[in-house]
Amino acid sequence: MAYVKIGLIGKLDMLKFKNITKVRENEIQASPATPLPKVLTTNEKAKKHHPAKQDVVIADIRQNGADAKTIVFKTPDGSRLALYRAGQYVSVSVPIGDTVTTRSYSLCSSPELAKKGEYHITVKRDDAGFVSPYIQDNWKVGQAVTISGPQGHLYYEPLRDAKKVIALAGGSGITPFMGMAYAIRDGHEDFDLTIIFGSRTAEGIVYKKELDEVCAACDKVHVVHVLSDEEKEGYEHGFITAELIKKYAGEGEYSIFMCGPQAMYNFLDGEIAKLGLRRKFVRREMFGAIKDPWNQPGYPAEAKGKKFKLKVIKYGEEFEVEALADEPLLVAIERAGISAPSRCRSGECGWCRSKLVSGKVFIPEKTDGRRAADVDYNYVHPCASFPLSDIVIEVSGSNI
Ligand code: FES
Repeated sequence: MAYVKIGLIGKLDMLKFKNITKVRENEIQASPATPLPKVLTTNEKAKKHHPAKQDVVIADIRQNGADAKTIVFKTPDGSRLALYRAGQYVSVSVPIGDTVTTRSYSLCSSPELAKKGEYHITVKRDDAGFVSPYIQDNWKVGQAVTISGPQGHLYYEPLRDAKKVIALAGGSGITPFMGMAYAIRDGHEDFDLTIIFGSRTAEGIVYKKELDEVCAACDKVHVVHVLSDEEKEGYEHGFITAELIKKYAGEGEYSIFMCGPQAMYNFLDGEIAKLGLRRKFVRREMFGAIKDPWNQPGYPAEAKGKKFKLKVIKYGEEFEVEALADEPLLVAIERAGISAPSRCRSGECGWCRSKLVSGKVFIPEKTDGRRAADVDYNYVHPCASFPLSDIVIEVSGSNI
């Protein structure tokens, strides 16, 4: 038999442990008989910093470049909005006719303004979707809007990211980087930001004046404009290539942050591969569901263009609607006027997580943000799941 020698400190620890029950009983007896608080301070603080939803009004709408509008939200009573990491987004609830949908927009103002109850988002007219044009044409100053708390992971994290960040932006993809530029200027963030910003023409550049102003006020923010449809002095011409990134990144380590349309990512994936960067140094914002699931690896070609029956079970009620193979289940659910939870609409946040009772779906690998347990128990993210057969799904909660 082996013996373990216990020193004095070990013996004292054992004695302390042996007396724990007695000490606890004595303390319970000695405590006053006042009831416990019904609301815990920590829960209240968590709710304030991470609200599920926030109520705001539209305080101003500003034309921004040729086809974008910046919408200024304020709290009705001037109280502060939730603080956020520059680069995060909010999900905005958009009622259209009998349906309510959501869209995610990056916060493009300084986090400093949140303390005064103010957020800015920028909505660009996008021919591929109907919500941004709807907002541009219908939203008015004074209108009440419900938005989510700040969401998303495209923000600077000193433990993970290099001190120098090269931001690659296309069109309205400038918005998270606008927020970062303001945050650096206002002392909320400390890193060196070079934005390589692709636009079609000089006239169509969103935030041109504001970017110039931030660059003039802060030597840690730099902007390079790249025009695809126009050659102009003082601007780069063409597309954002590996060569161009190397030219402006200079020596030393750097992280790449990307935000823009899917076509830009498809092109940049090839260019960034040439740079041989470590994986953790390349990050991207997702902007909605994949628009061409049939071009994704693993998509069964025969499904394209088909229609299926979709049964939605919500709190025991059943609704039968039509679902197209070419669009995510969430779109079919919303089109039928059924309110379902959604935020990122990119398969990432898990907010729309729902039980797939029966049927088969296609989930593109790039937008499959499910946890392993969800895969095992047949939970899916309807925002990133395309039907391949008749479906029965159980959803709970409403849009924000
Ligand atoms: S809304 Fe975020 S995963 Fe579906």
